[in-house]
Amino acid sequence: MARSDRSICDAGAMQTQMLIGGDWRGAASGELIDVLDPATGDVAAGVAAGTPADAVAACDAAAAAQPGWAATAPRVRSEILRDSHRILIEHTDELADLITLENGKPRADAVGEVAYAAEFFRWNAEEAVRIHGSISVAPSGANRIITRHPPVGVVAMITPWNFPAAMITRKLAPALAAGNTVAIKPPREAPLTSLRVAELLAEAGVPPGVVNLVPTANSGAWLDAVVDHRAVRMLSFTGSTEVGRVLLKRCADRVLKVVMELGGNAPFVVFADADLEAATSGAMVAKMRHSAETCTAANRFFVEAPVHDEFVERLATEMGAMKVGNGSDPDVTCGPMINGASVQNIDRLVRSAVDGGATAVTGGAAIDGPGFFYEPTVLGGVEPGAPITREEIFGPVAPISSFTDTDAMIAAANDTEMGLIGYVYTQDLAKGLAVSERIEAGMIGLNRGAVSDPAAPFGGMKQSGLGREGASEGIYEFCETQYIAAEW
Ligand code: SIN
Repeated sequence: MARSDRSICDAGAMQTQMLIGGDWRGAASGELIDVLDPATGDVAAGVAAGTPADAVAACDAAAAAQPGWAATAPRVRSEILRDSHRILIEHTDELADLITLENGKPRADAVGEVAYAAEFFRWNAEEAVRIHGSISVAPSGANRIITRHPPVGVVAMITPWNFPAAMITRKLAPALAAGNTVAIKPPREAPLTSLRVAELLAEAGVPPGVVNLVPTANSGAWLDAVVDHRAVRMLSFTGSTEVGRVLLKRCADRVLKVVMELGGNAPFVVFADADLEAATSGAMVAKMRHSAETCTAANRFFVEAPVHDEFVERLATEMGAMKVGNGSDPDVTCGPMINGASVQNIDRLVRSAVDGGATAVTGGAAIDGPGFFYEPTVLGGVEPGAPITREEIFGPVAPISSFTDTDAMIAAANDTEMGLIGYVYTQDLAKGLAVSERIEAGMIGLNRGAVSDPAAPFGGMKQSGLGREGASEGIYEFCETQYIAAEW
């Protein structure tokens, strides 16, 4: 088994066992899941492979801890979350090393991810003491209507590899703030960061059994064990729409509450009156943050005809100047893709666009290994409706089409089952808001390439998901609503 010794040393402490009821355990069978360093293709670590019995034990532990955690005063839960924020920030370097090791993203993005991940704890520490109910008089005058929001109970979570820290904390912080306990399946490709985060949360005072993590190489068996566990009341998932559909069907068997953050196919619109410098740097953020492996990534560019050529040239210059390589090199701005299959998929989409008449203005090819790299690519002359505009690219490719008619452009932008996010650039604020309101997406960046914010509701319309994460809405997703008709 080849191992990347450089990365292991850089990553410092590494937790590779599963966490159940406050105990760190190896796999009973001794089986390990190989975690690859995508920059080299080498095995960077072996993580304990959990079985369905481990998943059941994690749910049992969460169920045992739940009444005590729910009964803990909101102020106490809040202070534990606040300490979790502080401890994660104090371990920024170490966590960023782990993120870059297992996900490949450039060091600066990894450091940014730790700050983003930690912020979910700070935000939800503030929300934990503000879960409000209500009281009103029934219209008949006969009684009072009291509503309250107890925690859901035991929540199962499945988190993705593209943000190994932030996608776990975006779920975990509000769930804990509301008084839930959790059983988590960390991403198979990138479990190391999640395990270390869980270890740090225990240092911050999260009691044993409140957070349980079981990595597995067999997601289907893990899901069956967890969904069928009597104590589990909810599943929170971030991943592809395809997998989300399967999970939704399975959750229907026990009518579990669900929050789903699924795929995107974001339009990025540039009007002729946009500040083109701002639009280009916004496009670089919207397309390339975290090496373009985000569900918020701009997937289709619509540029108004008079500025089309200039925008293409500006974006191609920026994309062509990116330094591709191992994310642990501080000069690298575009890291590897997560695996070889991802590179092949990106290349398939680019080849089909070029065969359909698009031009690779810069890039357009996979980079020979070791590691899993693709050239930052700008495609001009892409036909709206081409396969590359229908699928989530999840890679460093910007397909650009020109438009002249705003209504037709909006119809094309909305011609997708996805509705996670859209971007609009114009200096005419009234037009920008009007167009934003017509784009069928849960989030819009108006003259901004970055929208993600723990204080804002993250989530999609259409097949991009169900529910919201972050903001005040995010915490209520992890609560029930109970109504008491009261007379006195
Ligand atoms: C995602 O890609 O799933 C999340 C992106 C973000 O939070 O910005």
